[in-house]
Amino acid sequence: MSQTQFDKKSQAWSALFSEPMSDLVKRYTASVFFDKRLWQADIAGSLAHAEMLCHQGILSSDDQAAIARGMAQISAEIEAGQFDWQLDLEDVHLNIEARLTQLVGDAGKRLHTGRSRNDQVATDVRLWLRSEIDLINALLRELQLALVDVAERHVAVILPGFTHLQVAQPVSFGHHLLAYVEMFSRDAERLTDVRRRTNRLPLGSAALAGTTYPLDRERVARTLGMVDEQGQPQVCQNSLDAVSDRDFAIEFTAAASLCMVHISRLSEELILWMSQNFGFIKIADRFTTGSSIMPQKKNPDVPELARGKTGRVVGHLMGLITLMKGQPLAYNKDNQEDKEPLFDTVDTLKDTLRIFAEMIGGQNDPATGQKSGGITVNPEAMEQAARKGYATATDLADYLVKKGLPFRDAHETVAHAVKAAQAQQLDLSELPLATLQQFHPQIEADVFEVLSLRGSLNARNTLGGTAPAQVQTQIARHRARLA
Ligand code: ARG
Repeated sequence: MSQTQFDKKSQAWSALFSEPMSDLVKRYTASVFFDKRLWQADIAGSLAHAEMLCHQGILSSDDQAAIARGMAQISAEIEAGQFDWQLDLEDVHLNIEARLTQLVGDAGKRLHTGRSRNDQVATDVRLWLRSEIDLINALLRELQLALVDVAERHVAVILPGFTHLQVAQPVSFGHHLLAYVEMFSRDAERLTDVRRRTNRLPLGSAALAGTTYPLDRERVARTLGMVDEQGQPQVCQNSLDAVSDRDFAIEFTAAASLCMVHISRLSEELILWMSQNFGFIKIADRFTTGSSIMPQKKNPDVPELARGKTGRVVGHLMGLITLMKGQPLAYNKDNQEDKEPLFDTVDTLKDTLRIFAEMIGGQNDPATGQKSGGITVNPEAMEQAARKGYATATDLADYLVKKGLPFRDAHETVAHAVKAAQAQQLDLSELPLATLQQFHPQIEADVFEVLSLRGSLNARNTLGGTAPAQVQTQIARHRARLA
């Protein structure tokens, strides 16, 4: 194409350029096909900016009204799927601005006064992520409630607690589930903390150095709800940092990765528990698939995929943090690469939380108001497994300590008893009293309560322990916290 054929008007910065981008370069540099999902944030940011420009006397109220009118139409077009997104216009910002100018003329061209795409995009991503964090926290709450519901129904169900995946001590199944509630509550705390640093306004930093117009950045922050708990406007205080900071995206992805890791650990347990070798639980058929060759199979696809998708989210964290490491101040085009990993992290986490809340807690039945179709528990299988592994050996040692033995001696004594029981393929509680007394004369008939799984469970009645009374206390605490 010759220079004379090159239509300079079609590019936002055209006057200086003597040749157009090739199609390959356009495709390589454009972001519109993924960043268009920022459109609502982009429009909200523009409207707040225009309102402030008008308030400061930089933009006429006619222009402001025209911009508001144009943006309302653009919103409607996008919502109706009628907006013509153009690769030639590179990104969401230029697409919307070009359409605005088409609709309202010069007012549209004045919107970009005192701002740059650098502070614009940083603002858009923050606004978008802020609302996604709110949605994720709501989903995290649902998942915690589902776990608390199932925990409450199974406070007294005995599960073999494992260390090293070897039977260790009996625990309440409810207690085990509440361990995950603790993890997810920390995830929610972390996200709330990330939200505070996300909810700060870069706009008004312009390209990198601030602007010559008398902007009121705090006004824009207030309009956009970028305020702290006391209602004070939260504005990024250094223009260079404001346009290039993506810490909030990185820490969000770190928090999301950790949350996925928690989901992944839970997935691993669900997969083990529902295998034939354990047979502890069942998950509803709609979360499993069959095998194309083995007719007997029901595979735990959902937990397996969640475990797999955890790798993908952790990968996004690596991608984002690596994206930043070599960048000089201030904005660099590298930052356009922040979006896809961030979007995919949000999508993956949201879908996973939603599906887990339903898989564990079941679906709401509108007819009864009750939930059904969550995990089903086989208490007998759990208890039987607990009985196999000498899960109350520690209780016998503690019993001897209470009779005056030093713990290390008690531990050794019980090891001998376990060895003898193993040789006869019996549980400690199945040994006759006389046999037990050979290991220590102070063992009396009350030992059998101590050696029972339920006795063991009830005895761990300290704060954070697995005794049903403690688990009930924790359930009440979680319910109050999640109310
Ligand atoms: N699409 C760009 C991004 O996502 C917008 C900012 C472009 N700024 C620039 N100076 N080229 O980062």
